[in-house]
Amino acid sequence: MQNDILVYGSYGFTGNLTVDEFQRRGLSVTLAGRNEDKLKQQSEKTGLPYLVFELNTPELTTIIISPFKTVLNCAGPFRYTSLRLAKACVNSSINYLNVTGEFAVIEQLSLLDKKAQQNGCVVLPGAGFDVAPSDCLIAFAQNKFPGARTIRLCLSLGGRPSRGTMRTSLSQFKEGGVIRSRGLLTPVRIAHKSYKIDFRDKVRTCVSIPWGDISSAFYSTQIPNIEVYMAMPNRFARLAKLAGLFHGIVKRKPFSSFLASWVERQPEGPSLSEREKGGSRIYVTVNDITSRKSFLLKTPEAYTLTAQIAADAAIRVTADTVKPGFHTPSTAFGMNYIMKFKGVERHELVRGKRNRL
Ligand SMILES: NC(=O)c1ccc[n+]([C@@H]2O[C@H](COP(=O)([O-])OP(=O)(O)OC[C@H]3O[C@@H](n4cnc5c(N)ncnc54)[C@H](OP(=O)(O)O)[C@@H]3O)[C@@H](O)[C@H]2O)c1
Repeated sequence: MQNDILVYGSYGFTGNLTVDEFQRRGLSVTLAGRNEDKLKQQSEKTGLPYLVFELNTPELTTIIISPFKTVLNCAGPFRYTSLRLAKACVNSSINYLNVTGEFAVIEQLSLLDKKAQQNGCVVLPGAGFDVAPSDCLIAFAQNKFPGARTIRLCLSLGGRPSRGTMRTSLSQFKEGGVIRSRGLLTPVRIAHKSYKIDFRDKVRTCVSIPWGDISSAFYSTQIPNIEVYMAMPNRFARLAKLAGLFHGIVKRKPFSSFLASWVERQPEGPSLSEREKGGSRIYVTVNDITSRKSFLLKTPEAYTLTAQIAADAAIRVTADTVKPGFHTPSTAFGMNYIMKFKGVERHELVRGKRNRL
């Protein structure tokens, strides 16, 4: 499997951590992206080969990516990078993975299912903290409650987002909120609802966000109603509500330019010590008309876990262990996949108590 995997966007914050994780596992990968200087630097540091190319290069399939079995895309926002690279991969029977949490990207990639099946390759978005842990937890919750019709997912990141994540969230924010209702993606106001959720270490305010699970969880479970919430400090929750109410104004310049330039001044991502100390919690409730069940997943810090999942998923797919076609993490590897990562704990929540599962 040495050098069967190409990592595009390898010198970004997440790409870098993922390349480190491949090396920790003793595997050589090929670095790639559009900035030669950054690739050269990364190649000198890691001793790995690299390829420089833009995604609008005409020879993308025939020459550049054809020697590889798998392409792992870490270059986001994925709305600008994913479809072109994924199509090139599928046309050349190469597996394609990314670490997106953007629901619109997951939707686009689901349309490549048939072609991927015909060409014998795998398309797997969401191979990171978004959406692998929540996707596995939701599949597990459905297994425990097969009649569930509604999913409410609440994420507590427990640490600082990277600059790339903020950039991506900002580009999604401009488009407003979305939930899945009766099987359909349905626009709503940004932060249209909020809840106080007891994550069992702390009660946190969670505000609705348009996240990848409104697509991935639907493809994993066919449950028709899905809402996703993010825990945030009360003052940010209030700001998010205001931004939702005045979305028409807030998404326009100069406000959006001010936010974009603020994002570019933020640190690249959480430091090593922040990542070592951090941890995330994912709370999911599934219900039908009369009853409900709730589950909690505790995980290591989101960016550390993303790098581990992305590398692990790419290795598994490259080893031909997954049936060709479009997948979510739980359809590719099963609902218990997330439990193989160190530091992950799963609990069923029963009237204020926790039962470890
Ligand atoms: N699934 C998860 O849990 C998870 C976890 C971490 C990150 N993410 C997502 O991953 C993405 C990257 O995050 P990050 O923190 O690594 O950001 P980052 O440090 O800003 O890195 C972004 C990388 O993408 C490349 N890139 C961006 N736009 C490109 C384009 N149009 N064409 C070619 N390359 C492009 C950048 O290259 P240049 O420097 O040349 O622009 C850079 O290598 C974000 O969308 C983030 O939301 C998801």
